Amino acid sequence: MTVSQDSLLALRDVRVKFPVKTDWLGRPRGYAHALNGIDLQVRRGETLGIVGESGCGKSTLAQLLMGLVKPSDGEVDWVYESARERHRHVQIVFQDPQSSLDPRLPIWKIITEPLFALGDKGEMRTIAAKVAAQVGIRAEYLDRYPHQFSGGQRQRIAIARALASNPSILVLDEPTSALDISVQAQILNLLAELQNRLGLTYILISHNVSVVRHMADRVAVMYLGQIVELGCAEQVLEQPKHPYTQLLLEAVPKLGVALDDAYVSAPTELPGNRVLPDGCFFLDRCPRRTKGCERPQRLTGGMSQQVRCHLEHP
Ligand SMILES: Nc1ncnc2c1ncn2[C@@H]1O[C@H](COP(=O)(O)OP(=O)(O)OP(=O)(O)O)[C@@H](O)[C@H]1O
Ligand code: SF4
Ligand SMILES: [Mg+2]
Repeated sequence: MTVSQDSLLALRDVRVKFPVKTDWLGRPRGYAHALNGIDLQVRRGETLGIVGESGCGKSTLAQLLMGLVKPSDGEVDWVYESARERHRHVQIVFQDPQSSLDPRLPIWKIITEPLFALGDKGEMRTIAAKVAAQVGIRAEYLDRYPHQFSGGQRQRIAIARALASNPSILVLDEPTSALDISVQAQILNLLAELQNRLGLTYILISHNVSVVRHMADRVAVMYLGQIVELGCAEQVLEQPKHPYTQLLLEAVPKLGVALDDAYVSAPTELPGNRVLPDGCFFLDRCPRRTKGCERPQRLTGGMSQQVRCHLEHP
C-alpha cells in the first residue's frame, strides 16, 4: 500500500494519451496527450476542486478515476484492495442529467443500476427509496420516468444513483453547469449537506470558479494536462502564484456575481496537445516568461500551495 493514511488515492506522474490520426492500416499516426504527468493525492473527506479551461484534461482525469480510461504511464494507487471495492466506492455525477439517465427506465431502476452492475441482490426498491429520500425525491415518484422530472430533480436522481452503492468518493463533473442558476444553488447545497451527513469525499470538476470557491477545500488548476497550481482553495483562489492561475482568475468577475456569469473566458485557445512543448507548457501565453522557462517545470512547494513555475522557486 503506497497511499498515505489520510488519503484515499494517490496519482504519480500519470499520463493518458489517445490515438488520433490513423493511417490506412488503422495504426495511430499521432496522439492527443490529455494528461501529462499528474501528481495528486485525494484526502479523506475533502472537496478537491479541479479547474481549467475546456480541453485541459478534466474529464479525462474523471474517467481515469472511474477506471474508464487506463493510464498510458504512471501509477494510480487506491486504498481499496480490489477493483470491485473501488467500483463500489467511487461513483460519478455527470454534467447533464438529461443524457446520463436512461429515458426508458423508471427511476428506481436508474437509481439502482450501479448495484446491478456490482451483482448485488438486495431489495432494490427499498434501497432506491432510501437514497431517493436523501436527495429529496419522494418514494411515490419511483415508478416515473426521467422526462417527468425537471432538470434539478433529474440531477437529484443522478446523485441518488451515485449514492446507491454507499460510496466514499463522488466525482462531480460539472454537476450544475447544465442547470438554471436558481437550481444550481439548491444542488450545491444538497451536495454540501450530503457530504456532511455521509462523510463523502468530492472531486469537483468545474470551469466555474465561483462554484469551486463555494465548495472546495483544495483546488488543482490544470493546463494542458498538467497541474500548474495546487493548494488550499483560499490561498490558490485569493493569492494565485502561477501566471496561468492569475490570468484565469482575472477573467472571473469578483464578488456579487451570479454563479453562471463567472465562467472563465481565457485570453486565447489552449495550444494543441499532439506535440507537447519541451519547456514550460504555458510558455507561449505567459506574460512573465523569462530565461529558464524553456526548461521543463516541476510542481513544487509547501503543503498549502504548490506551483509549476521556476519564478516561484528561484
Ligand atoms: N476519447 C478521446 N479520443 C481522442 N482525444 C480525446 C479523447 N478524450 C479526450 N480527448 C482529448 O483530450 C483532451 C482533454 O479532453 P477532456 O475532455 O479531458 O477536457 P476537459 O478539460 O474535460 O474539457 P471540457 O471543459 O470541455 O469538458 C482534449 O484535447 C480532447 O480532445
Ligand atoms: S515557467 Fe516561465 S513561462 Fe512558465 S509559467 Fe513560469 S514564468 Fe511563465
Ligand atoms: Mg470535460
